Amino acid sequence: MLLERKHVVVIGGSQGIGYQTARLARQSGAEVTIVGRSLSKLDEASERLGKVHTAVADITDEAAINRLFTTIEQIDHVYIAAGSFIGGQILEGSVEQFRTAIESRLWGSVYVIRAAVPKIVSGGSVTLTGGLSTERPVPGAWVTAVATAAAEQLSRALALELAPIRVNAVSPGWTDTPMWDAIFGESKPQAFQEVTSKIPTRRLATAEEVASSVIFLMTNPSITGEVIHIDGGHRYV
Ligand SMILES: NC(=O)c1ccc[n+]([C@@H]2O[C@H](COP(=O)([O-])OP(=O)(O)OC[C@H]3O[C@@H](n4cnc5c(N)ncnc54)[C@H](OP(=O)(O)O)[C@@H]3O)[C@@H](O)[C@H]2O)c1
Repeated sequence: MLLERKHVVVIGGSQGIGYQTARLARQSGAEVTIVGRSLSKLDEASERLGKVHTAVADITDEAAINRLFTTIEQIDHVYIAAGSFIGGQILEGSVEQFRTAIESRLWGSVYVIRAAVPKIVSGGSVTLTGGLSTERPVPGAWVTAVATAAAEQLSRALALELAPIRVNAVSPGWTDTPMWDAIFGESKPQAFQEVTSKIPTRRLATAEEVASSVIFLMTNPSITGEVIHIDGGHRYV
């Protein structure tokens, strides 16, 4: 029970990697608060998790994030999972369609960190979410690559600035979560099959496997400024 008597706040905790982090944190004895935009998704998640706090807030809304953290007294660990894959070529469409990626992964993380850190107690940590596209960008997803790189670099820079609070990031490769259901719909199995054959481990990660790295970063008191890759070696091929 590594997280007994600890309060873990997961921004983007109603599904996918954030949900699995909340579940493992509960299993490790933590009091858990999950945050997301959709109340119904939060209600569903809390029914499955049992005995968690829920709060509706959009990470891109600074005032909402500030309001959320005024209601929380003490925090041990924060995990920021909120975000999504945003595709599109840089010369196509309007710039507006790309803003959300940066708004959520960079500025959203900044809002959360500014509001949460004053309440984080000794031994506490912040974990951000980067992604495979930082080191292995692909055409048609430039803004996601910039956003994941920003989150990862934030963890390195803030590990110094916020010390002794620890700041780390997980960098997932392709991970089977509801995010891809929303993007691929019925063609998800085919898309996954094409990608899987290229990954050295010949499998996609599960959300739980990424979440277990988040818990590791929360609970190892000597790790800060680190980015853990959970990508089956995909960044090398
Ligand atoms: N799955 C992958 O292959 C993969 C790979 C690399 C990186 N990542 C990154 O890892 C993170 C988690 O991914 P996932 O696959 O677990 O995604 P997911 O299944 O779509 O879950 C995202 C969670 O974040 C919440 N969320 C999304 N936008 C939000 C916002 N603006 N404000 C507050 N909450 C928000 C969602 O709830 P609501 O919709 O109700 O807000 C949900 O709880 C994302 O940043 C994603 O880009 C994923």
